[in-house]
Amino acid sequence: MQNSGMDSAATPPATFDISGKTGDPNTGLRGNYAAMAADFTVQQLMSDYTDAEQARWLRLVERQLALIPGRACDEFLNAVLGNPALDMRHGIPNFADVNVALKAATNWQLVAVPGLLPDDVFFTHLANRRFPVTVWLREEREFDYIVEPDIFHDFFGHVPMLFTPIYADHLEAYGHGALKAKRLGGLDWLARLYWYTIEFGLIREHGKILAYGAGVLSSPKELIYALESDIPARLPFDVMTSMRTAFLIDDVQTTYFVLDSLQQLRDDTAPDFTPYYEILRAENS
Ligand code: PHE
Ligand code: FE
Repeated sequence: MQNSGMDSAATPPATFDISGKTGDPNTGLRGNYAAMAADFTVQQLMSDYTDAEQARWLRLVERQLALIPGRACDEFLNAVLGNPALDMRHGIPNFADVNVALKAATNWQLVAVPGLLPDDVFFTHLANRRFPVTVWLREEREFDYIVEPDIFHDFFGHVPMLFTPIYADHLEAYGHGALKAKRLGGLDWLARLYWYTIEFGLIREHGKILAYGAGVLSSPKELIYALESDIPARLPFDVMTSMRTAFLIDDVQTTYFVLDSLQQLRDDTAPDFTPYYEILRAENS
């Protein structure tokens, strides 16, 4: 899922397919896919980041850190503010260092990738508790808006939540569920659930609606819009409703779904989705 709102970017849409483009860095797909391994991973070379990129990273981090207190959920805030491995104010994070702490916390690992991935590659990583993080940082002219996920979206938005065990377990289950949905022809629907939870999910904590979705948390504009604007709908999270709701990839959302707890996300997605896809198929035929 590409962009949503100013600056936020997400994960590949279910229909994303770069199979014809890999190996050629000049196909219009952003990122260098020439040097990757079979699983689309690359080396993260810290020396490749320029001083200008390091400075830009710090400005992106400071801007977003100033916005998250009172807006991000406890799990996100505790990770970002309380875990030294997630201190992003020292510069672009070295995945190898973060991986030591992440492995201890939830047995997940970050893997460096050139950019968007084919859906089966992406979901196979999730199913194996590997989170793909784009290695490159947006350009200066993209400071407020970027179409593709970059390291700021992927790391700032997604990685902190991976330190919460119930969320980490859910994301692995989602990976398995997505590979299954692909076999069953249900991936377009399950991609919507990802969009409205992992990317743009809201959650009620302490009687207040807060953000846990990466696309919201990494976007200054959408973080405020999603929580404070009178315009969008904020519906109680419901699996089938989320899968019936189309989303926008290039603007703020018109609908957000609000969880009562991360346990609800885990419980509501635990059933076999096969009959859900049958219902949705019948509705759409
Ligand atoms: N339980 C779902 C199925 O059997 C898979 C799933 C897991 C979907 C987690 C979403 C999140 O198809
Ligand atoms: Fe994302």
